[in-house]
Amino acid sequence: MLDAPQPTSTEPCLDPFALAKALSGKHFIGGKLVPALSGATFAVVNPATGEEVARAAEGDARDVDAAVKNAAEAQKAWAKVPARKRGALVYQAAGLIRTHVEELSRLVALETGKALRTESRVEANNVADIFEFFGGLGGELKGESVPFGPEVLNITVREPLGVVGAIIPWNIPMMLMALKAAPALVAGNAIVVKSAEEAPLAVLRIVELMNRVLPPGLFNIVSGQGPSCGAPLVEHPLVKKVTFTGSVETGKIISKAAAEKLIPVTLELGGKSPMIVFADCDFEKTVAGALTSMRFTRQGQSCTAASRIFVERPIFDKFVAEMGKRVDAMVMGDPLDEKTDIGTIISPGQFSKVKAFIEEGKATAGATGRACSAMPADAALKKGLFIQPHIFTGLTKDSRLVREEIFGPVTVVFPFDDADAVLAEANDSEYGLAATVWTSNLKTALRFAHELEAGLVQVNQNLVVQPNLSYGGVKASGLGKEASLESMLEHFTHKKTIMVNMA
Ligand code: NAI
Ligand code: MG
Repeated sequence: MLDAPQPTSTEPCLDPFALAKALSGKHFIGGKLVPALSGATFAVVNPATGEEVARAAEGDARDVDAAVKNAAEAQKAWAKVPARKRGALVYQAAGLIRTHVEELSRLVALETGKALRTESRVEANNVADIFEFFGGLGGELKGESVPFGPEVLNITVREPLGVVGAIIPWNIPMMLMALKAAPALVAGNAIVVKSAEEAPLAVLRIVELMNRVLPPGLFNIVSGQGPSCGAPLVEHPLVKKVTFTGSVETGKIISKAAAEKLIPVTLELGGKSPMIVFADCDFEKTVAGALTSMRFTRQGQSCTAASRIFVERPIFDKFVAEMGKRVDAMVMGDPLDEKTDIGTIISPGQFSKVKAFIEEGKATAGATGRACSAMPADAALKKGLFIQPHIFTGLTKDSRLVREEIFGPVTVVFPFDDADAVLAEANDSEYGLAATVWTSNLKTALRFAHELEAGLVQVNQNLVVQPNLSYGGVKASGLGKEASLESMLEHFTHKKTIMVNMA
């Protein structure tokens, strides 16, 4: 069963336009690139120019059914492969991602508009890292023994769930797929991924590459629209677990459909993450931290973006001014250009949504929205979905800009005078994904770390997901954790109890 198919060239393709065309119109099902059964396709657009760069297969329930049936068949044999051997194969397949990092970085930059140097390359390296991390964890799929006496053997074993359905978004598509596929596969499951409409190519390429090492049928991907391709995946009777990253609204729909089938779901949803800056912070490090926390290099298209920043009053004016100055120094431009810090918004829909927030903020009495950086001058980019980063001050707490996830390069900054009050304000959100605290006072840092309602609190730093640290939100930000050993055990296996009476 371990024969690997060899679908396309093994050489990395550094021309993302050529690669996008080569991957056009295909799902990856049962070890092969295949078109949609209906023959339908939809456009994949370069958001930096508005040009179509590829077509994607437009999957529907029939394609999903084929993928899930292939996965279910392959999973039976995969579950019997010793867990460390499964992990070793996933690790080996990750090697193909390592050798294709540059290719994948360019491809994802082309389809998402995320800058190559600051974002896309970082993401591709993280993907290899995540698969390698989980590849090393096969041996941890072990059970317990429970002593009831010398003539009784009570043990638990970890069994895979079967076929996992994974629905992913477009903001960090490769990494979010890896966080689901790596633990699912190592734990002995097969997986069918439904890619995001806006970013179907790099993830397809990863599945194709890894299938050169993995047995066919285990790792499948379909592209298509949410309701006509994602929903049938969730509803398919052979799908035994669903893992989703995306909006709260879609998360609720998926959760209801999973409840009908009584299958478990993991949901990684939105955020409105607070950043709390005390006057005793390391000023330089903290201003730099505000830029990374807000994910300006990803156009703020991040569920953990520090989209509410609270700064202690004595340093408020200086902090806001310095932040603006530093964002001004960031270069907006062609995502594939090494000089570019900030690329584009993903799609016309998201573009209009973010613009509407900015207009609403500007129209609010007493509020100031500072537009930072500069629109790219290059005429070839005039149809690109570029939005200048905006830093708002003077908004009131009931503003939509303060309460809702914008998912764009827009942050709101408030001064504060009192630690108790700012803690209450930070927690006054339907979301609870991440938070950061910046101070040199360890007592304050720990108090906030404990009292902030969030799945992840970082003090004096804001790093992206780190393998082996559980990641996931509370409140409307989701259910369940990803990225760690425990998350693999909890969300991709079930614990079976075996009792043997030898008396
Ligand atoms: P979305 O949640 O609608 O889409 C994410 C994925 O779900 C896509 O693959 C989509 O095709 C699929 N989907 C949509 N409807 C579905 C359904 N009925 N059944 C099954 N699958 C379905 O997010 P969208 O529309 O791309 O973005 C809207 C907002 O969601 C953003 O502005 C942002 O606020 C938030 N978002 C949050 C993300 C996160 O990382 N937590 C990622 C992307 C979006
Ligand atoms: Mg949607």
